[in-house]
Amino acid sequence: MPAQHELVGPFPDGVDPEEYDRLRRRVLWTMPSGLYVVGSTDGGERRNAMTANWVMQLSFDPKWVGVSIEHEALTHELIDAGGCFAVSMVDREDRAIVRKFTKPVDVDLAAKTLNGFPYIERVSGAPILAQAVAFVDCKVRERLSAGNHTLFAGEVVDAGFLKEEDTPLLRMEDTKMNYGG
Ligand SMILES: Cc1cc2nc3c(=O)[nH]c(=O)nc-3n(C[C@H](O)[C@H](O)[C@H](O)COP(=O)(O)O)c2cc1C
Repeated sequence: MPAQHELVGPFPDGVDPEEYDRLRRRVLWTMPSGLYVVGSTDGGERRNAMTANWVMQLSFDPKWVGVSIEHEALTHELIDAGGCFAVSMVDREDRAIVRKFTKPVDVDLAAKTLNGFPYIERVSGAPILAQAVAFVDCKVRERLSAGNHTLFAGEVVDAGFLKEEDTPLLRMEDTKMNYGG
């Protein structure tokens, strides 16, 4: 992330860059999104789970889902190495857990937990939170360089519900958190 004094352009004519920077951030934060936990593995013993809201379906034939991941994140390294990721849809009641996945997690391979939260693995091997409402398990098909992020486009190789289908899901608007902007 750029230091606070480094303002990212371009700027429309006549604006005060600092004021515009603050306004543009607030506008970008209004874009509605869900809030997810992205699981990753290097294909070996390493695992991680990360809170992310830049997640969306990209294609319906084939079935592709994209996740946009910061270059510096451990998740980036693991998705790059393992060529897969899993997206856990989080129960609205579980909103507290997204705060547990904002830096690399403690992995217990024997107990199959991430920061103490049990996980399961399906087709790709990327971890899925056992308490997720639903999940998609993806294999990376394309990587788009997107500034300081990479948009990993993954084909859905497995999907399912782990709780009742009508369980309300966590969305960004349910939290006081922001990302990006
Ligand atoms: C509400 C929220 C949403 C986030 N969304 C994303 C995201 O979409 N992409 C991303 O790379 N990091 C996102 N982050 C930051 C990551 O959760 C994490 O802090 C950072 O990328 C390091 O992850 P790591 O454990 O893989 O190193 C978000 C953080 C928060 C609090």
